[in-house]
Amino acid sequence: MIQTSTESNHATESNHAVVLVIINQKGGVGKSTTAVNLAASLGELGKAVLLVDLDPQGNATSGLGVEKAQDLQCVYEGLINDAEAEKLIIRGVTPGVDIIPATINLAGAEVELMNEYARERRLADLLQPVRPNYEYILVDCPPSLGQLTINGLTAADHLIIPIQCEFFALEGLTKLLETEKIVKTRMNRDLDILGVLMTMYDGRTSLANQVVEEVKAHFGNTVFKTKIPRAVRLAEAPSYGKSILAYDPKGKGATAYRELAKEVIDRG
Ligand SMILES: Nc1ncnc2c1ncn2[C@@H]1O[C@H](COP(=O)(O)OP(=O)(O)OP(=O)(O)O)[C@@H](O)[C@H]1O
Ligand SMILES: [Mg+2]
Repeated sequence: MIQTSTESNHATESNHAVVLVIINQKGGVGKSTTAVNLAASLGELGKAVLLVDLDPQGNATSGLGVEKAQDLQCVYEGLINDAEAEKLIIRGVTPGVDIIPATINLAGAEVELMNEYARERRLADLLQPVRPNYEYILVDCPPSLGQLTINGLTAADHLIIPIQCEFFALEGLTKLLETEKIVKTRMNRDLDILGVLMTMYDGRTSLANQVVEEVKAHFGNTVFKTKIPRAVRLAEAPSYGKSILAYDPKGKGATAYRELAKEVIDRG
């Protein structure tokens, strides 16, 4: 079946990537940690993965050891200057994983996209030609609901929403779900939530368990069975430019992200 860019983004062939967008406009909930380590875990399982860094902070980029040199071609070039995805891809940053990096240059896109034609579809159109080359494309979103995140929502097949096991965990989610609904209605009718992921879980605290119960009451089975534990090693790994699988392969963080990868494959 031939797909045009106006049709659904959904994979129609078995060798056509599923686009998973990691999203929550709340800052510091574990989006980039999940993007990097889920990508690495899917790669370890033999999947062909492309990670797209859609955040000007570039945490997923540096988290996999890519140096954000000033002249590094980043996703900005694809969104604004029509550079081909192929030309932006850095290959094999960790086994099975390629990346389209982000640098601070991407910050300009938030404003520049406002004046562009078909601005919401820029990421979807950028990724379309490389979808046959991958099984999973993971997109790490910035902590806002601006043009970059709208591009993420428009390009997505499914969303992964990390939620930190903390006070006010559900804060802001209403706005995120409203935005999802608008994009689904107007631009991407097959968009859905693959799963809600509880992050930085510390089972010794009753607060963490209360938050999990509250989120489950809200999202039911959409919540992944896998919870990502709070683990110092997960916070340390990016400063070495390594995934948790490379930095602490036998630790609880690596174990959790491997479990998550299996759950994603089962669901997706
Ligand atoms: N499971 C975890 N255990 C311990 N620390 C974690 C865990 N997950 C993430 N962190 C740390 O918490 C901080 C925020 O995580 P991360 O950068 O992944 O969140 P984010 O949602 O991408 O943030 P932003 O909204 O700024 O993009 C980082 O310092 C990260 O190393
Ligand atoms: Mg981030």
